[in-house]
Amino acid sequence: MYGFRRNAQGHACLGETPLSELLARTGLETPVYFYDLDAIAREARNLRAGYGSAPHVVAYAVKANSAGSVVRTLAAEGVGADVVSAAELEVVLGCGIPASKIVMSGVAKKDAELDFAIASGLLAIQAESVEEVTRIAVRARALGRQARIGFRLNPGVEIESHAHISTGHDKAKFGIARADVARAFEAVDAAGPVLLAVGLSAHVGSMLHEVAPYLKSAQHVCDVARARRASKPGLEYVSFGGGFGIDYGGGPTAEPADFARQAVELLGREGLSDLMLVAEPGRSLVGAHGVLVAKVVQSKVSADNAWVMIDAGMNDLLRPALYGAKHRVEPLDRERSAPEWRVVGPVCESSDDFGAHPLGPNAPEAVVIRDAGAYSFTMASEYNGRAMASEVFVKSGQIVSTSASPGAAAWVKRRLQA
Ligand code: LLP
Repeated sequence: MYGFRRNAQGHACLGETPLSELLARTGLETPVYFYDLDAIAREARNLRAGYGSAPHVVAYAVKANSAGSVVRTLAAEGVGADVVSAAELEVVLGCGIPASKIVMSGVAKKDAELDFAIASGLLAIQAESVEEVTRIAVRARALGRQARIGFRLNPGVEIESHAHISTGHDKAKFGIARADVARAFEAVDAAGPVLLAVGLSAHVGSMLHEVAPYLKSAQHVCDVARARRASKPGLEYVSFGGGFGIDYGGGPTAEPADFARQAVELLGREGLSDLMLVAEPGRSLVGAHGVLVAKVVQSKVSADNAWVMIDAGMNDLLRPALYGAKHRVEPLDRERSAPEWRVVGPVCESSDDFGAHPLGPNAPEAVVIRDAGAYSFTMASEYNGRAMASEVFVKSGQIVSTSASPGAAAWVKRRLQA
């Protein structure tokens, strides 16, 4: 049994093991993130199965969850990585992901980051502008190395998602606009042997519920790929990005493997089946397989309101405050039941609010915030002098590793030194 579930006693579990038991075993103070490594591995296997025998690299978007235990679990499933900084690159290389399965994205890679990426011999550095192509050529020449580059194309596709996570439309800062693609190829070809144009990618945004917008963007990538091949050899891969949604409680979304199958079919129709397919999923591999456990500090009941104040806040899990995202909050050790309570964190901001949830007639001692495996710990801060939460990694009911919170004392020391 994998993933988040309730046992017969109504206790929230990871696999078979109650979270309250796992928490007690660690002796850690809440808030604590727990991740199910078995469920993450299974997610990777399901997605890879969608590609069948087609040559592919699943390049995990590490920004979703950069914990070594998570990255090593995915590496063991043959997964590669999509990184957006030198620091992320160091983590994934350190976790044993081979450079040949790593792409680097990002609109403003610094010279030192480009140098590190070039020297590492990645599958590709995905350039997001003509200007960047020229900069990569300068860096490669300075290093005396050839740089393998991909273009991140801006497909000009609108998606139905939160504006903050929609990246493929005409006004987005991301990618090379349709009108600039020819210039980008000219820049590569003018640079000579120091640049090798090996790939084309696009990513329309995050939380896609259906495959259609993904295919629309993929079609643009294929069109550019066919046109390029008609004049020059060298293309090795196309990437249609990531963005596969998960169910945060609002209803099911298309399965990641559906995106994979349809990508393979599209390449076939386009006569591009000899190209390798790269995917850049983040959330769908890890999102559903992490939870945040918090204790209730106190409740507050007045004429019109019933609040439950917990010891996790927007600094630990920013998504509700930043995107109005809904994460299910449930009692840790009993089933959900009416009435609803408004669950809020301790941070001095009105947006530090996890929404209304049926926690039962009396406030529970502890709660579990679900689907916190992606873009949760990685987006955390120390706002309000609140140390980063601890993280616990579970496999077959056993705690295989722990990353303890640096604690408030470390924060105090750094602030005093500042
Ligand atoms: N590839 C590129 C170029 C990206 O920018 C991203 C995500 C991904 C792949 C992975 O997307 P995913 O499969 O995880 O949807 N913080 C937001 C999500 C931001 C996504 C940023 N880019 C959230 O919490 O919803």
